[in-house]
Amino acid sequence: MSTITTRPLGPEDWRLYRTVRLTALADAPEAFGATWADESTFPEEKWKDRLGRRNSFVAVRDGEACGLVGVVPLDSRVAGLVSMWVAPGARSQGVGGLLVARALEWAADNGFPEVRLWVSEGNDRAERLYSRQGFRRTGEVQLIRDGEDAEEFAMSRHAGP
Ligand SMILES: CC(C)(COP(=O)(O)OP(=O)(O)OC[C@H]1O[C@@H](n2cnc3c(N)ncnc32)[C@H](O)[C@@H]1OP(=O)(O)O)[C@@H](O)C(=O)NCCC(=O)NCCS
Repeated sequence: MSTITTRPLGPEDWRLYRTVRLTALADAPEAFGATWADESTFPEEKWKDRLGRRNSFVAVRDGEACGLVGVVPLDSRVAGLVSMWVAPGARSQGVGGLLVARALEWAADNGFPEVRLWVSEGNDRAERLYSRQGFRRTGEVQLIRDGEDAEEFAMSRHAGP
């Protein structure tokens, strides 16, 4: 059985980041506020800049990236979990759980007691994943993208007892 690991991405990994992120946007457009059409036009500098501001981790299996998560400071005590995606062939093996745990570890290590995220209505699989890791719905709802009907809801997790 192959081992799955996670590792942080630095600016030098921008090509890998671009590949995984664009694959995610093409694979699951309903899950993200951003679109492949927008991000596929990003130049090298934008990918590097984003990697500098958005702490990102890839999951790796047999030398191949098979998942992505990002965690970004929202204010002095809240971090946002973003860009969560696992390659279809690697799902239901705990990769999503590993990536969420890695993002939570980063938040705890960097002094963020709360982590928030947004989930598309109907994405039950993602909601179950986050619920297993202690996230709960906050009651906030917003449109995924301006001018579209689809909505997403907020979930939050507080560190500690
Ligand atoms: C949502 C998503 C990230 C979940 O990733 P994943 O790697 O399949 O997540 P996990 O493996 O940790 O958990 C998924 C299921 O596998 C099960 N599972 C976990 N480890 C397992 C293992 N070792 N063996 C068998 N099943 C396992 C979990 O219990 C879970 O079951 P459930 O869906 O019935 O609750 C993935 O489906 C995805 O990328 N979807 C498209 C993008 C998306 O929706 N992103 C979220 C945006 S908010």
